[in-house]
Amino acid sequence: EKGGYDHFMLKEIYEQPRAIKDTYRGRLLADQGLIRMAGIDLNMEKFLNANRIIIVACGTSWHAGLVAEYIFEDLARIPVEVEYASEFRYRNPVITDKDVLIAISQSGETADTLAAIKLAKEKGAFVFGVCNVVGSSIARETNAGAYTHAGPEIGVASTKAFTTQITVLTLMALKLAKAKGIFSESKYHEYLTELETIPSKVEKSLESNTLIEIISDVYKDSTNCLYLGRGYNFPVALEGALKLKEISYIHAEGYPAAEMKHGPIALIDEHMPVFVIATKKGHYEKVVSNIQEIKSRKGKIIAIVTEGDEQVKELADHVIEVPETLESLTPLLTTIPLQLLSYHIAVMRGCNVDQPRNLAKSVTVE
Ligand code: F6R
Repeated sequence: EKGGYDHFMLKEIYEQPRAIKDTYRGRLLADQGLIRMAGIDLNMEKFLNANRIIIVACGTSWHAGLVAEYIFEDLARIPVEVEYASEFRYRNPVITDKDVLIAISQSGETADTLAAIKLAKEKGAFVFGVCNVVGSSIARETNAGAYTHAGPEIGVASTKAFTTQITVLTLMALKLAKAKGIFSESKYHEYLTELETIPSKVEKSLESNTLIEIISDVYKDSTNCLYLGRGYNFPVALEGALKLKEISYIHAEGYPAAEMKHGPIALIDEHMPVFVIATKKGHYEKVVSNIQEIKSRKGKIIAIVTEGDEQVKELADHVIEVPETLESLTPLLTTIPLQLLSYHIAVMRGCNVDQPRNLAKSVTVE
């Protein structure tokens, strides 16, 4: 049942090239210059007339929501707010019938997310679900939606659900960008064809596994870790830190790299591993200077870089390469090494990777 892998989590990490393909199968028709998504097509006016999009979710799905905020604002120019479902539902939020609420949930059963949906519906918002489990409560409660089609996710730590959620949300943003006339045919075509290369680039990213095992062995006894990223890769830093804490029980924090000097930099010494996402596109030079700041305080730097990078290689203790892609698609690649890292560290620490203590796969109580 684990397909020859030691754990479901590892199997699910390796399933991502296929899972992402399954997500866009029948939707992404690059040769026809078309994205087909019934849930959007049938409700296009709702999206185009929306004052804003509110995204609600919990945990890893909330991180996918943060990535989506960058994608929707950058590509489709629609204002987005991302909220923890548990906070949103209890803070007397301003919601009107001009709002579109997107709920993201792997299980489709998360109690707080479900309650946030009910609240938004009562206030007249249009509610769209991005779920993995077909026929789940959230899928049934929403006005429309798009499934991720990632296949069953058994490992408690979410992996392929995250990358397929980002895939669905990217398809949505691209479709809306096109409908709004923001994208020229050629730019649209560039995005569609690049998206089609992502499964093979994820495959390529998985090839760092042996190197990541070696790096994991060096840092497996750490008590604290920092994860830094900027722009599209800031949510990836949060997700990397969450993966590490939940399965290896090492305390980890994710931060926007520039926030480091507002506090966390005080933590940095020779015992602090800092995982930095430093891909070529998007604030590269600024991340490089953040790396220099860490280095001058003797922090250990493990950098996720674009293939062929020279500059960060000079500064970092370890570099892990991912293929180059469009900036907005980088989270689909930079996430992969961080998943593998947390997996190997947890295994080396003797942790129960698929069933971490105190955690359940779906949180059906608030
Ligand atoms: C993290 C994890 C949790 C879930 C969260 C939301 O690896 O598994 O943080 O992401 O409980 O679950 P769903 O997406 O089912 O609503």
